[in-house]
Amino acid sequence: MRIFREKDYDGMSRRAADILGAQLLMKPDCVLGLATGSTPVGMYDLASGGYSRGELDFSRAATVNLDEYKGLAPDDPQSYHRFMREHLFSRVNLCPERCYLPDGAAPDPDAECRRYDALLDALGGPDLQVLGIGRNGHIGFNEPSDAFSCGTHCVRLTQSTLEANRRFFAREEDVPRMAYTMGIRNILRAGAVLLLASGGDKAEAVHLAFDGPVTPRVPASALQLHPNVILVGDEAALRLLQRK
Ligand code: GLP
Repeated sequence: MRIFREKDYDGMSRRAADILGAQLLMKPDCVLGLATGSTPVGMYDLASGGYSRGELDFSRAATVNLDEYKGLAPDDPQSYHRFMREHLFSRVNLCPERCYLPDGAAPDPDAECRRYDALLDALGGPDLQVLGIGRNGHIGFNEPSDAFSCGTHCVRLTQSTLEANRRFFAREEDVPRMAYTMGIRNILRAGAVLLLASGGDKAEAVHLAFDGPVTPRVPASALQLHPNVILVGDEAALRLLQRK
């Protein structure tokens, strides 16, 4: 595991964008596993800037997103489809046909999970998977539970996650209660994992994930089993981390 301790959010975003850029240079036809949330927004901004300046070329890459709210159609303003279009897809030369997310409006949830797993298998899994981390240690929408999940599945979001997501919605009752997410096994199949963490409210989760035991009560702790994890965090988020 490599740890980059950056001063603040901007430093974290710069480092993360450099790593994303290096992945594209190393393998232009790579599969990028992408995340939503506020944490990777700065990285997406910088990557988009890199594309505008002619430094980055996304034309041969494919993307697979971690998760999507169940019940929100791809054109819903709160959907992760929309988030990705706004922050990255519309700003770089990714081929829209190769930008994949679970379909929140799929009529048959089990079939949708199987479809997404088959897609991930066909792509060979992400070369680089970007992750944020929830305050309760969740990754994607893999919430704390009694067992690690395997493939793509549908989850009921915990109270802590509903509260964290509340800020993006006008009314509490609009916050989706369920989501599709890649499972822990899907995530662990990535060639490399780039975990981003910013802010003091992530410090406890980062500490438990990497200094504590591997346990499904802290889903991010499964990353201890992955041979190529890059943790990029700012000082506030890494404040409690003991691992060097
Ligand atoms: C949501 C997303 C996660 C993300 C997490 C943290 O739960 N499904 O992928 O990592 O929020 O979000 P933020 O970066 O806004 O703190």
